[in-house]
Amino acid sequence: AVSQGVGEYEKLGAGTANGQGGPDVSIIVPCYNESANVRPLVEMLRKVLDGRRWEVIFVDDNSPDGTSDVVRALAQEDSRVRGLCRIGRRGLSSAVIEGALSSSAQVVAVMDGDLQHDESRLPALIDAVAGGGCDLAVGSRHVEGGSNQGLANAWRHALSDGGIWLAQRFMPVRLTDPMSGFFAIRQDRFRQIAPFLAATGFKILLDLVLSSPTPLKVQEIPCGFRARVAGESKLDVVVMLQFGALLVDKLCHGLVPLRFIAFCGVGFAGVLTNLVIMRLALLAGADFSLAQGVGTVVAMIVNFFLDNTVTYRDRRLKGARAARGLLLFVLVCSVGAVANIGIARLLYDQGHMITEASVAGAIMAAVWNYAMSSTIVWRP
Ligand code: GDD
Ligand code: MN
Repeated sequence: AVSQGVGEYEKLGAGTANGQGGPDVSIIVPCYNESANVRPLVEMLRKVLDGRRWEVIFVDDNSPDGTSDVVRALAQEDSRVRGLCRIGRRGLSSAVIEGALSSSAQVVAVMDGDLQHDESRLPALIDAVAGGGCDLAVGSRHVEGGSNQGLANAWRHALSDGGIWLAQRFMPVRLTDPMSGFFAIRQDRFRQIAPFLAATGFKILLDLVLSSPTPLKVQEIPCGFRARVAGESKLDVVVMLQFGALLVDKLCHGLVPLRFIAFCGVGFAGVLTNLVIMRLALLAGADFSLAQGVGTVVAMIVNFFLDNTVTYRDRRLKGARAARGLLLFVLVCSVGAVANIGIARLLYDQGHMITEASVAGAIMAAVWNYAMSSTIVWRP
């Protein structure tokens, strides 16, 4: 008999007639350039999950170091190993989401693929959820018994602590370690929250907690955090910006698309670039039209590179596709600029104030540029 009560563990598929039945837990492991870490991780999982029905799903974004090849080889040896390889995409959060949604198990656990998370805490995380005690069990470095020693340096500690402090201002439930990437959650709850996730950046746990339509019942499990041995961290300035963007997105209740906010930020940087270059060109003796032309072209190129690395990081264009993208982008922005001037002119002629007219023109251009960039330059 299957009991459906909230918090109760349903043994779906156990002992079915057609084979062994599915796993009770899926371990979702986002990975990018972790080829040296995948095999040791599977060996560790075999040990700590011995006696359970489990599977591991590696979600790799077509790493150049051949992580997916290692995963495929392992999957040939052991059917509990699965791989999901995404091409032309990047992102820790979105990788976790797609992995978790591909699971049919009652519980999904998420852990890093670089051996930094202490796998010996995995059974405790899984049992906290499977036993029906909570919806979400979080491995915390900041409760009694936890530790954060593996963070590379004082700078990473400061960043992590600052991030935690900031995140806590936003959260509906209290978590000592909202930045953790080590947790277990009921798969049905995950599916329920999935449509509301911002799905950007590194902080999938925070995203889940902030996006859940009903508060999650949470439990914290003390955990250590080891130093990374092979490979390197993917945390960089853009990831930090994405963390800020996630909070802004949740603050706006997802009403304004995050990408649009980023796009406008980049656009603003473009306007500044334009002004600076124009000034320099004038100083160098160029006439006004030439200076404006040079300023505009440089600003468009700078905008393209910023949008390619920040706004559309998950769809980043490389090589020949980047060159083609740049041309398209310049074309799109030129049309935007003409529309901007045209609309401002029209409104001004109709008797509107000059500031009103130029703001309206700029908004039109921003929306146009954004719509075209999102659909034809950086195609989804
Ligand atoms: N598929 C995919 N795509 N995986 C990614 C990507 C990506 O774009 N970026 C990172 N990963 C994988 C890494 O390969 C690794 O397995 C895991 O996500 C964590 O990435 P790291 O680059 O090792 O992150 P970290 O060590 O700086 O951060 C970790 O600690 C934080 C707490 O301080 C992560 O666990 C964070 O989630 C955690 O919040
Ligand atoms: Mn790491």
